[in-house]
Amino acid sequence: MRANTMTMRPLTGSIGAEILDLDLRGLDDTRFADIRQAFLDNCMLVFRDQHLNAADLTEFGHRWGETFHTPHATPLDGFPDTIAIRNRGKAGTTTEYWHTDSVFSPRPPALSILAAQTVPPAGGDTMFANQYLAYETLSPGLRALAETLRAGYYRTASMGRVMGDASSAVKTADHPVVRTHPETGRKALYLSYDPTVRLEGFSESESRAIVALFAAHATQPAFCYRHRWQPGDVVMWDNRSAVHFAVHDYGEQERLHFRMTIAGDVPR
Ligand code: SIN
Repeated sequence: MRANTMTMRPLTGSIGAEILDLDLRGLDDTRFADIRQAFLDNCMLVFRDQHLNAADLTEFGHRWGETFHTPHATPLDGFPDTIAIRNRGKAGTTTEYWHTDSVFSPRPPALSILAAQTVPPAGGDTMFANQYLAYETLSPGLRALAETLRAGYYRTASMGRVMGDASSAVKTADHPVVRTHPETGRKALYLSYDPTVRLEGFSESESRAIVALFAAHATQPAFCYRHRWQPGDVVMWDNRSAVHFAVHDYGEQERLHFRMTIAGDVPR
């Protein structure tokens, strides 16, 4: 390792890296460029012991691009680009499934950053799965099918997530199931693995069955990392090359993260 370079270690054999011995406050441009490259190479990054407050997170987030304002999320007082992710109970969670953030948007976000404030003593982990590998390891037949597919994403009439009754759902976006990452040029599967997704040209039941088939492949343990949170952690993920799943196994205990989400391109 060359002197003065950052120290990084892989989190698994397939996804994620941890950056060690680094303070995210006040990074110089060279170090920021190293982090950007590590992010693109690994789909998600972990930084321990950062303890970023809303101002710190806002400053770090702005280095990545323009803010994506998540529909329905209320910003923190005084920080219009930062939101709080709180425990809303098992019944109220909208992130306990494999997804890529705000995929229902015509121009979904490129990346998301969470800064842990309070974490439960156990549980509340977040899992990540590498969607480049998911695409690259498809059988030739499934890969050829995936290349032809477009997925429609639906919201309720009030723009909430479709949870049960889908009768008032409206389509808000459709995206290719295989997208080319605009920065790396690599192809990845791009799907939220949700039974409400509708594949164009297929019946509802066919669509569910095909999405379930892709989900079983794309989220297999060999493509995954499971993050066990500690207070002060910062974790960021690339919504164009990874899906994630927030495990809700911590009852009513407090779990609070600050989050910034950065705008992306129309998937192609
Ligand atoms: C999310 O899915 O965007 C939130 C992840 C988490 O709460 O761990």
